[in-house]
Amino acid sequence: MPASPSRVLTGITTSGTPHLGNYVGAVRPAIAASRDPGSESFFFLADLHSLIKAQDPARTQRSTLEIAATWLAAGLDPQRVWFYRQSDIPEITELTWYLTCVAGKGILNRAHAYKAAVDRNRADGEDDDAGVTAGLFMYPVLMAADILIFNADRVPVGRDQVQHIEMARDFGQRFNHVYGRDWFTLPEAVVEAHVATLPGLDGRKMSKSYGNTIPLFAPPEELRKLVFSIVTDSRAPGEAKDVEGSALYEIYRAFADGQDAAAFAAAFADGIAWGEAKQRLADLLEREIAPLRERYLDLVARPGDIEDILRDGARRLRERYATPLLAQLREAVGLRDLSPLRLDADHADAQASSARAAPPAFKQYREADGRFYFKLVQGDRVLLQSHAFDAPRDAGQAIAALRRGGLPLAQAPVALGEGTGEADVRAALDALAAADADRAAKAQP
Ligand code: TRP
Repeated sequence: MPASPSRVLTGITTSGTPHLGNYVGAVRPAIAASRDPGSESFFFLADLHSLIKAQDPARTQRSTLEIAATWLAAGLDPQRVWFYRQSDIPEITELTWYLTCVAGKGILNRAHAYKAAVDRNRADGEDDDAGVTAGLFMYPVLMAADILIFNADRVPVGRDQVQHIEMARDFGQRFNHVYGRDWFTLPEAVVEAHVATLPGLDGRKMSKSYGNTIPLFAPPEELRKLVFSIVTDSRAPGEAKDVEGSALYEIYRAFADGQDAAAFAAAFADGIAWGEAKQRLADLLEREIAPLRERYLDLVARPGDIEDILRDGARRLRERYATPLLAQLREAVGLRDLSPLRLDADHADAQASSARAAPPAFKQYREADGRFYFKLVQGDRVLLQSHAFDAPRDAGQAIAALRRGGLPLAQAPVALGEGTGEADVRAALDALAAADADRAAKAQP
């Protein structure tokens, strides 16, 4: 086992009511993976994200409770994984701003969700950004903060989210680069290729947007009714039926063990009546879901306990990771305690170091006396100051000779800048020559 377990982070959008497709495709596999002792798992309710779409406060609150209870009922153990609510960790929003300030706007312009909104507007002949909030536009930066703040190594996501992980890498990398250290781990997207997508009542993928879902915790009677409304073909009892393309069979298989699924397939081949097949599926679902539903109902009846679990998770997580990290990041970006600062000394220091960092350059100019001059500068510092020339061409030739190294400094029509030695000038000329060579090399095909 690795010395420090790899960190896996899962964000859960708090909107809508969970259905069987969510359970089979997301909840169940994620909880199973969280039991792997080789990983440290982070599960959070992305309630700040939900505000981008859902702006009905009562629904936001209810949905957060339902989704939290769903994950707990399905077996998520808040003692062994980090389970928290995004909005309980103010450091996430603070980090969002630091990342916003290094994130390229052009990258955000290319985010799928934003681009899709723009494309719709164009198709409708509207202004590009009509009805688009800055929240939708900034969504990937908030998501990057979710991930980077805990240095997640792996983020299991659907294909539609891969681009967001790429962006999190990009923003993290830029921040690391600008602030000179590997502050953030660059996360990998993990796309679960073999996670089942469950068909819905009409045979298309089960999805809220198709209105073809079976709510995970529908009461038994409603569950049965919904199962009986699954579309089937018109084959009569006694006629062999295809499991291929059968929503009924796919849903059955997602909840049954291999043996039962095989028996169900055999019954199809034997011409089981659709009514009978539906009854069998309804019984199976009821058997599998009843214990979860019972836990769920028990949990939502004690919302205060869920509130406590979430707050406790956030409190421990802040103490352990988020608060210390943000203290370091504030320091790193320069949001610092002012009291140790000695402006004169530090200022001169900072100037010297910025001069060292800035690339040297020759500047040509004309003075009020009508004559031509040049100087070699680096940042705010003047390394060389030329004498006067009658023509700009003469100044240019002197610069060229200096750059070639064909004109010894002592013979050049120049004076050293204040506090500058010949070695400083030579270093600057060398740096210029190196930069030229670099450019020439890059220009090669
Ligand atoms: N955007 C994700 C979704 O729609 C939810 C999410 C928010 C998320 N923040 C995240 C997922 C961080 C993974 C990591 O499903």
